[in-house]
Amino acid sequence: MGFSAGQEQWRARLGTLRQVVRQEVVSRQLAAHLPDLPPRRVLDIGCGQGTQALYLARRGHSVTGLDASDRLLDDFRASVAAEPAEVGARVRLVRGDAEQLADTFAPSSFDVVLCQGVLMYFPDPGPLLDAVGQVLAPGGMVSLLVRNGDALAMRPGLLADWDNVERAFEGQSYLNRIGVQARADRLEDLTAALARRGLSVRQWYGVRVFTDTAASDAALPDAATLDTVLRCEERAGRTDPYRRVAALLHLIAERR
Ligand SMILES: C[S@@+](CC[C@H](N)C(=O)[O-])C[C@H]1O[C@@H](n2cnc3c(N)ncnc32)[C@H](O)[C@@H]1O
Repeated sequence: MGFSAGQEQWRARLGTLRQVVRQEVVSRQLAAHLPDLPPRRVLDIGCGQGTQALYLARRGHSVTGLDASDRLLDDFRASVAAEPAEVGARVRLVRGDAEQLADTFAPSSFDVVLCQGVLMYFPDPGPLLDAVGQVLAPGGMVSLLVRNGDALAMRPGLLADWDNVERAFEGQSYLNRIGVQARADRLEDLTAALARRGLSVRQWYGVRVFTDTAASDAALPDAATLDTVLRCEERAGRTDPYRRVAALLHLIAERR
């Protein structure tokens, strides 16, 4: 189980419909909990190419991006270089292993911690959640994006991939679209795991309800259609029962 085997596929698909929907919907959901002021100290664990981190830096927050991949950090650096100098000055990139998080940063040193699309590559999410709890300041907020373990059979089912539907009903492991065996989280389990660390879920959303079964290389539609798709995805992501069968869960938790 490791992201690096799928890294080039991840990079190649960042501009596709599925990935743009994921990033845009997550960004809108996050913005509802994170106003531009006051500026916060944000840690993005497994920031990769830095899409969300850069959005937040543009909005005035100070962002530290931590990632194990030199290649993705180079991509992030290239995006930062194209920004106005004051945005670049708010971004710090750290190459490191998320497993060493608590040794890399001082306790309570961040107001906001993002960990999006990362937990599925950890066989046991516990140690990383412990470290998140340690680096988060009192009153701080966490944004977690995970594969939805309550609805793992949806994707293979809608794609008529029947062998994998049966497997998905039984387990919490799946082969993702970038060819990596990964792990899904159930909402109730993750909520309880966060509560044990003093973090209570303020809100949760689904991400990619309608577009999850689009082809991996599906391109963006015209701007007006994309706008409609994003509005529909965003609405489904906050509405029962749709959000419960989304491909991804986005949890917003806060430190009591
Ligand atoms: C699917 S990408 C998500 C990137 C970004 N968070 C996003 O949502 O667009 C997963 C990222 O986690 C990073 N990653 C995976 N395991 C890691 C680890 N143990 N330590 C640090 N980074 C890790 C990968 O290098 C990659 O950039």
